[in-house]
Amino acid sequence: MKPIRKIAVIGATGMLGLPVVRALAEAGFEVTALVRNPDKARRVLPSKVVVVEADVRDVASLRCGLAGQDAVYLSLSVAPGEAPGDFHTEEQGLENILAAARDAGVGRIAYLSALVHDTDSRWWVIDIWRKALVRIKVSGIAYTIFYPSNFMETLEQRHVVGKRMMMLGRAEHPNYWIAGDDYGRQVAKAFALPAAAGREYVIQGPEALTYDEAAERYVEATGGGLKIMRVPLWLVRLGGLFSRELDFNARIMQAVLNYPETFKAQDTWDELGAPATTIEAFARRDSKAAYATCS
Ligand SMILES: NC(=O)c1ccc[n+]([C@@H]2O[C@H](COP(=O)([O-])OP(=O)(O)OC[C@H]3O[C@@H](n4cnc5c(N)ncnc54)[C@H](OP(=O)(O)O)[C@@H]3O)[C@@H](O)[C@H]2O)c1
Repeated sequence: MKPIRKIAVIGATGMLGLPVVRALAEAGFEVTALVRNPDKARRVLPSKVVVVEADVRDVASLRCGLAGQDAVYLSLSVAPGEAPGDFHTEEQGLENILAAARDAGVGRIAYLSALVHDTDSRWWVIDIWRKALVRIKVSGIAYTIFYPSNFMETLEQRHVVGKRMMMLGRAEHPNYWIAGDDYGRQVAKAFALPAAAGREYVIQGPEALTYDEAAERYVEATGGGLKIMRVPLWLVRLGGLFSRELDFNARIMQAVLNYPETFKAQDTWDELGAPATTIEAFARRDSKAAYATCS
């Protein structure tokens, strides 16, 4: 099989797309970001990343962006305001991506999924994630799929509101929190390994912490400027009767907080390298360096 040199990334500007793009570029791959808003993308992506305008709603733009690429990496999401009958990037968007990737002769597709895809939840969002896995597996394109635990970025970018760390509900089980940069290096390694074609990797960080423990350690490490504020999940669920976003947040938190996560990443660590970033190291990292090109 031809070695992978050129990688297109869809979702490059997202919370978890950015660290992967940085790691792929640092590992020496030629990275092309397929984005809706090139100006925004150029402000946040490393300067050596090629930026091409494309939208997953538009197969022609995807075909154009994927021409000549060896592989494509997907970091898509269902946004909190979406409803079941809407266009979803991981549903109709994924169909468009797979059609364009086949037309363009892309040799590998890599997809960021989630550990909670295998719960018995009937929530339509988790159903989209399950169906996305099937779509990719029957696409005829060699795939690599990642099932990550919680990302440390979530604490920083989704739970911090002003000076408060908003905690919804309480975790029943610990999670193996992982930093996006550690994950990005594992993704880069997977693209360099021909044997990673057809593989599914569990992605977990170095230690198991409940949501509360992770939040407390993050707040402590950032110097105590943040205050943790707890909101019971039933209250968010009640708010969800009036707001799609609150309903989404309540349901995703419920799925994550109840997920009985056990350690399953030893094979991943052996093949793709072990993550080392602790919550403290993540909280104290030089985020200006990590996001050097952000305006
Ligand atoms: N948070 C966690 O701890 C965690 C754990 C496990 C798995 N995950 C999974 O990780 C995935 C990625 O999450 P995230 O938080 O990084 O998502 P995100 O920040 O919402 O990023 C989504 C990306 O998709 C792009 N996009 C949206 N619509 C598009 C379109 N029509 N055409 C082209 N690009 C489009 C966005 O571009 P714009 O910049 O133009 O909006 C953005 O770059 C999700 O599936 C999530 O379930 C998260």
